[in-house]
Amino acid sequence: MANSVKLAVIPVAGKGTRLIPLTKSLPKEMLPVGRKPVVQYVVEELNRCGLQKLLFITGPTKTAIENHFDLDMELINHLRQTGKEKLLMELAYEKADLQYFYTRQRRQLGLGHAILCAESFVGKEPFVVALGDTILGVNAKARIMERMIQVFEEKEADAVIAFEEVPEDEVHRYGIASPVDLTDPNVFQLANIVEKPSPAEAPSHLAVASRYVFQPEIFEYLKVTKPGKNDEIQLTDAIQSMIADGKKVYGVRVTPEEHRFDIGNFESYFSAFLEFAVSDPDYGEVIREKIKKFVK
Ligand code: UTP
Repeated sequence: MANSVKLAVIPVAGKGTRLIPLTKSLPKEMLPVGRKPVVQYVVEELNRCGLQKLLFITGPTKTAIENHFDLDMELINHLRQTGKEKLLMELAYEKADLQYFYTRQRRQLGLGHAILCAESFVGKEPFVVALGDTILGVNAKARIMERMIQVFEEKEADAVIAFEEVPEDEVHRYGIASPVDLTDPNVFQLANIVEKPSPAEAPSHLAVASRYVFQPEIFEYLKVTKPGKNDEIQLTDAIQSMIADGKKVYGVRVTPEEHRFDIGNFESYFSAFLEFAVSDPDYGEVIREKIKKFVK
């Protein structure tokens, strides 16, 4: 589907402190989940939805990400010369019709600040944000960005945010949607986003799911957003100000097949790896059998 939004910003500069020591010299976005590093799933999802210009907001210790998306002619030639042509398929992603750009977030002042680092590159275009540490769905199913861009265009929205229904005992971990109404449970205008509410205070169970579409005016809100939790510039705070200013911000619900895998902490990283391993087309069955043997 052709759409007007072609540019995606992928923040990958975070320190990943919750995954130390794994993330001391390895970017969290390069952690393996099944056969690929996390950020490759993110790039493939964006490519599927027609986003061709990708700007990574990177930081120290993150050069492995740039290397991963480079064309490695030496490796390609080596595989050809040693009769391992079959493996070339695994490197097909290198040839995708995508343009890669990189800029550094020189101080890790939070997600909102990371997005602000994209301002001069983005200019006056609308753009997408996809967090580099979050996969949506097993087996390359997610097309949420396509639906979000459609809503963005049809509603002439200022921002569109992906949401996933979470159990009540998890609402305190996320930004939670306060929809104007849920006449359409899949597309709704937001009256607010409540950051990490208690179950009693939560206006819904719809948690922010790491994908956004923005008009460039988001930068004006980020610039005046004061550092919040952990002294970081929080994206949610800027979105709250947009809504308070009467801007049109919509939510789009992810489908169950687009379930979010957040790689930011050990519990969700381990769960993601397990789910991808048991879904592997070649080894899934074997792994399931092995798990049955050691989980009594
Ligand atoms: P997180 O909120 O998980 O933060 O980032 P973090 O700093 O990476 O991890 P912890 O809290 O120290 O464990 C969500 C996404 O935003 C990016 C991260 O790289 C990740 O993809 N991010 C976060 C930045 O690009 N810059 C920042 O300053 C913070």
